[in-house]
Parts: sequence; C-alpha cells; structure tokens
Amino acid sequence: MTVIVTGGAGFIGSNFIFFQFENHPEDRIVCVDKLSYAGNIATLKSVMNNSNFRFIKADISDKEAVESIFGEEHPDIVVNFAAETHVDRSIDDLSVFLKTNVIGTQVLMDACRKYNVKRFHQVSTDEVYGDLPIDRTDLFFTECTGLNASSPYSASKASADLIALSYFKTFGLPVTITRCSNNYGFYQFPEKLIPLAINRALENKKIPVYGNGENVRDWLFVEDHCSAIDLVMRKGKTGEVYNIGGHNEQSNIEVIKVILNQLGRPETLVSYIADRPGHDRRYAIDSSKIQNELGWKPKTEFQNGIRKTIEWYLNNRDWLKNTVSGGYNAYFDKMYSEKLSE
Ligand code: NAD
Ligand code: TYD
Repeated sequence: MTVIVTGGAGFIGSNFIFFQFENHPEDRIVCVDKLSYAGNIATLKSVMNNSNFRFIKADISDKEAVESIFGEEHPDIVVNFAAETHVDRSIDDLSVFLKTNVIGTQVLMDACRKYNVKRFHQVSTDEVYGDLPIDRTDLFFTECTGLNASSPYSASKASADLIALSYFKTFGLPVTITRCSNNYGFYQFPEKLIPLAINRALENKKIPVYGNGENVRDWLFVEDHCSAIDLVMRKGKTGEVYNIGGHNEQSNIEVIKVILNQLGRPETLVSYIADRPGHDRRYAIDSSKIQNELGWKPKTEFQNGIRKTIEWYLNNRDWLKNTVSGGYNAYFDKMYSEKLSE
C-alpha cells in the first residue's frame, strides 16, 4: 500500500512517519512537504535511505505538482498534516493559512477524486469547536459540538473540515477527519508553548505567559495521536469525525512550572504578558467514540511523556539550534520584544 503523508517534515507528520515504519514497514510512504519555516528535512534523516520512503518538496496548494505526484504514485491513502498551525501567526497574517489549510485541502481532495484514492484523512484540531469555560469541568467537546472557531487559524481548519465533509456527501469521496487536542513530544517547533518554554528555560531567558496563565489545554503525547490517526485512516467509517484526547487538562502555568522544575530553573523566569486576542479559555475532549468504536486508548501518561520530552530536547540541542534559525529569532523579536523585558 502507498500512503501519501503531507506535512511530514513537521512535528506530528514526522512522528507519524516513524510510527508507520515501525508498525507497517511493508507500506510505502511518500512525504509531500513544502518545507515552510516549520518543516525540517533533518528531522527525517533516519528514514531518508529507507527504500520504502520518498520525500518530495512540493506545496499542496500547487495543483499541477500535486496531480503529477498522484499520477506517479497512485496512493491508496492520503493523510493531510500539511498546514499553517500557529495561532499567533494567524493573528498576524491569515493569507498563507487560507492558501494552505483551505485551498491546499481542496487541491488534495480533487486529486483524490481524479485518482480514485481509497481514503482521504484530514488531520484537524479540537480548536474548531471554540472553547469551554474554565470552571465547567463537566463540559467536553464531542463530535456533535457545533463548530465555533475563535482564531483565524482554527477558522481555517474548520473551513477545511466542512469542505472535506461536503466532498463526502456530494462526491462520495471516502473522507475521515480526526480532531485532536494539543500535542507535545519530540521535534515540535519551539514557537509552541512546551518547546518554547524548554528552549527559553535552557537559555535562562524569560518565558512569556499570556494573561494569567490559567488557560487550560488537554495535552496528548504525539505518539498517541499518531496511533489514533493510523486506526481511523485504516478502520474508521467514512464521512465520520473522531475526537482524540487524553483527559489530561493542565493550565499553562502548571505545565511551565513542571518544565522549570525538571530543568532546575527558577520560577522567576515566568513573565506574564498581555493576553492573546481571542484567547481560548479551555479545551477538553471527549474521545469515547474512537475508544468505543475502534478500541483506541492513549498509552503515555503526562508525567512520563513530559519527562521524556524535556530529556529529548536536552539530548538534541543541535536539532533545536538548527531549527531556531535567524528566521525564528526575528519572529520571536517581532512577536514578543515589546511585551517581554529580558
Ligand atoms: P507543524 O507546523 O509542525 O508542521 C506543518 C508541516 O506542514 C511543516 O512541515 C510544513 O513545512 C508543512 N507545510 C506547511 N504548508 C505546506 C504546504 N502548503 N504544502 C506542503 N507542506 C506544507 O504542524 P503540526 O503541529 O505537526 O500539525 C500537523 C497537523 O496537525 C496540522 O494540520 C494541525 O492543524 C494539526 N493539529 C496539530 C496539533 C498540535 O498540537 N500541534 C493538535 C491538533 C491538530
Ligand atoms: P500554543 O502552543 O500556541 O497552542 P494553542 O494556542 O494552539 O493551544 O499555546 C498553548 C497555550 O499556551 C495557549 O493557551 C497559549 C499559551 N501560550 C503562552 O502563554 N505563551 C506563549 O508564548 C505561547 C506560544 C502560548
């Protein structure tokens, strides 16, 4: 079987490729990635020489390039991780989010129709549901919760979800969608909270915390997300959405304190800054559908996963250094310099 993995040089996509080779070594994986600032070819070093692996640098919104790849590879499954993913960047400028997250998804699905692909799996996010009140810990997002995206990023993902479901209803395209909560783990770009905090703490620099730090996220170890996507794309019912989450809700400040504690850094590194506009208060996922229908269960407890993740960043400082290029430093200065006193 041939699986096209878009966005495979990014955080979750690369972990997914490693998961596939470990669990389905017989399958061919074709990674399609445009290598945006968030994509890092060095992350895929360990699979580059695998005869069942091919890397193609291409943009999913480039119809001609996508059709030529499908024509050569005739994929059985296409799983779409490729996206612009950072909320703060989407507040700064939405245009590339619409191009990749919406148009890119359309281009891929049109190619799936043309080449009779057996499954198109869209990797989506719980952020499409909007947010939940912090003090209502009895409330969770289910697959029936209405779409109510708050940020331009999540609105672009919600748009892609709706279009994907419309392709199922209108054209019978065999689509599945997963909506997962926040991931953490190896190879995450350090603009996201956990690797940002680790990276800044390692350098004894201030860690910017939006608002009062009490916003809550439901953290899932990336390998558990990969196992869920693998199940859904192979066994999930077409036209269906599956929520993925680990029932591991933590406030941002709690997570940062765990990181500072493990790295032996003082809590004085925490720096509260002006809140993110439209900042979602709490995400919490009810994943009983995928658990009951497909038997999925997360394996990694947060305490264990965060310890492994911090150790990984400590042992892979070269990866971090190469990733945090001049471009990233310029981004950090632009987004935070006025808000953060060193
Ligand atoms: P990431 O930002 O780390 O990686 C995105 C990858 O997509 C990069 O390799 C980038 O080069 C590539 N890419 C971007 N635009 C492209 C284009 N036009 N054509 C081809 N490739 C392109 O993202 P991630 O955190 O790994 O997220 C992957 C997917 O999972 C996204 O769709 C995201 O919405 C979803 N998701 C992420 C999380 C999370 O916590 N990170 C949670 C739920 C869902
Ligand atoms: P992030 O990693 O950007 O993921 P998302 O916004 O998609 O959930 O942020 C996670 C949480 O951490 C979110 O509540 C915003 C907060 N945050 C900070 O407090 N400071 C930061 O510098 C960043 C990047 C995030």
